[in-house]
Amino acid sequence: MPNIILLGPPGAGKGTQARRLVEDRGLVQLSTGDMLRAAQTSGTEMGRKVAAVMAAGQLVTDDIVIGLIGEKLAEGGSGFIFDGFPRTLAQADALGDLLARAGQTLDAVIEMQVDDEALVDRISGRFTCGNCGEVYHDRTRPTSTPGVCDVCGSSDLRRRADDNAESLRQRLMEYYKKTAPLIGYYHHAGKLFSVDGLAEIEDVAKSVARVLDGAKGA
Ligand code: AP5
Repeated sequence: MPNIILLGPPGAGKGTQARRLVEDRGLVQLSTGDMLRAAQTSGTEMGRKVAAVMAAGQLVTDDIVIGLIGEKLAEGGSGFIFDGFPRTLAQADALGDLLARAGQTLDAVIEMQVDDEALVDRISGRFTCGNCGEVYHDRTRPTSTPGVCDVCGSSDLRRRADDNAESLRQRLMEYYKKTAPLIGYYHHAGKLFSVDGLAEIEDVAKSVARVLDGAKGA
């Protein structure tokens, strides 16, 4: 099973496509954002530390997120979708080392290309199911029955604390300063594939599938 990275700014659709790949191909989603949000609600010291950083739209320190991914990879398995990781060059180097140590390779980095205007609309309309994690949007992907998750039937639908205009501005700035250089990094490594993230969700899924079917290990 391939190991892949979904790369793109906040709201590009990484989580949406990752969930499709879990469903369609049995891959394993490793979202550092989800892991950090889970740490916040677990009341650990690390959770308390990262809460304010995330709400402000800044990046959590490399050692924390590399540690989280390292723990998951140490459990074994393959077919990982790295969603929201790596976000800095130091994280990218660390991922290479962790995969090598686990005897694994990185098969593809899929860059989801979008523009900032679409991101504001996507982030401001997003809500997720607190029970199963399904991702929705007020306009482009509403639930079939208002207030009820299509997948699990839960009425625990939530909006994220960092999905506001101020935090999004900061998250975009962090992306362009610290994460966008990874595009060149992975292009140079011959791993980069780009898809049009502005297309309909189904069409983006087809583009991602085409990349995976052409990439080694798919
Ligand atoms: P994280 O949770 O990773 O958030 P993010 O990268 O900002 O990405 P999002 O989850 O906001 O967007 P997405 O691309 O998954 O889009 P989605 O599919 O939901 O990180 C949060 C924070 O945690 C960071 O700011 C940082 O503080 C910290 N953190 C996490 N990882 C870290 C790391 N490695 N290092 C340091 N700090 C880290 O889609 C968005 C909306 O658009 C949804 O409503 C969806 O329905 C809709 N949509 C999706 N695709 C389409 C489409 N094609 N057309 C129309 N609508 C669409």
